[in-house]
Amino acid sequence: MSDTAFTPRVFSGIQPSGGLTLGNYLGAIKRFVDWQEAGTHETIYCMVDLHAITAKFIDPATLRRNTRELCAGFIASGIDPEKSVLFNQSQVPEHTQLAWIFNCVARMGWMNRMTQWKDKSGKNAEAASLGLLAYPALMAADILIYHATHVPVGEDQKQHIELTRDIATKFNHDYGREFFPIAEPVIEGAATRVMNLQDGTKKMSKSDPSEKTRINMTDDADAIAKKIRKAKTDPDPLPETIEGLEGRPEARNLVNIWSGLTDQTPAQVVEANAGKLFGYFKQDLADIAVDKLGPIASEMARLMEDQSEIDRILGRGAERAREIAAPILDETYDIVGMVRS
Ligand code: TYM
Repeated sequence: MSDTAFTPRVFSGIQPSGGLTLGNYLGAIKRFVDWQEAGTHETIYCMVDLHAITAKFIDPATLRRNTRELCAGFIASGIDPEKSVLFNQSQVPEHTQLAWIFNCVARMGWMNRMTQWKDKSGKNAEAASLGLLAYPALMAADILIYHATHVPVGEDQKQHIELTRDIATKFNHDYGREFFPIAEPVIEGAATRVMNLQDGTKKMSKSDPSEKTRINMTDDADAIAKKIRKAKTDPDPLPETIEGLEGRPEARNLVNIWSGLTDQTPAQVVEANAGKLFGYFKQDLADIAVDKLGPIASEMARLMEDQSEIDRILGRGAERAREIAAPILDETYDIVGMVRS
């Protein structure tokens, strides 16, 4: 099989490890919707619940709720479960089955070099779970069990996609077959790294202890507006050109958020607001964010009222996912030399 034989297919995933943030929305979900609507590729989107238990203990009721809420977030943002395959990872056992093969392909040195492993295991790697170390091999399996060719992600996942490519390359080389595609990371647009609202040098994250640092997709209009108005900025007004944002991470971040929410380029945002004081800019940005995010939050709340409908959608998505994954797993086992009878 050569590269050109692979069906154009997009895969991406989000952990239900906490609530969705504006970073997840702009850096991932909104772009997933664009891929879905472009219609050029099959689109497969997954709630990676097995990844969500690698870092720290999550109470089972919370994990279930997060997974359903994430599903509601996908749908409320525009993912159509008819057009895209939408499901949770643990309902498709082929992911973990392929991950085992990849655990045997990936090298310890590769895993030890992952910055997310280093950050999350911290100073006490001995106490980290084995799952946290193996995390990127499961992620490679998520992508490659569908022979996905394109993986839209935020900037922070780039290294993991590179590892996925290394695993595919080594597998193909070891077994002498061009079986897995060398998937392309797609990291595009102004909002692939949305920063913390109180510190423009840190990523906006669902795990930050302070609520002021992020916008949650479930925040109401008041909370969104307040967090944006209180976002840290510097005392200077907006510059005339984009170069004037250099060395001003908080200012740059707010321009990027505006850009992500409106689909204007950062240069257009700066041009339209040149010379404006940040107090006014933040007020306008708050209005834009409330307009865009408010309806998503209310739709999420509405969808969450019918849990059985969400579970039905996830179940149906898992069935469709397995139709693609099962033959690819079968062929992988065959290539590896497992007896199939
Ligand atoms: P996760 O759950 O941390 O984040 C989901 C997606 O959101 C993006 N993202 C951001 N983008 C811009 N700014 C931010 N502040 C921000 N925070 C998060 C992430 O880059 C990601 O695209 N390991 C993955 C989940 C995963 C996956 C996969 C992704 C598992 N298997 C296979 C792609 C393909 C993760 O932890 O994402």
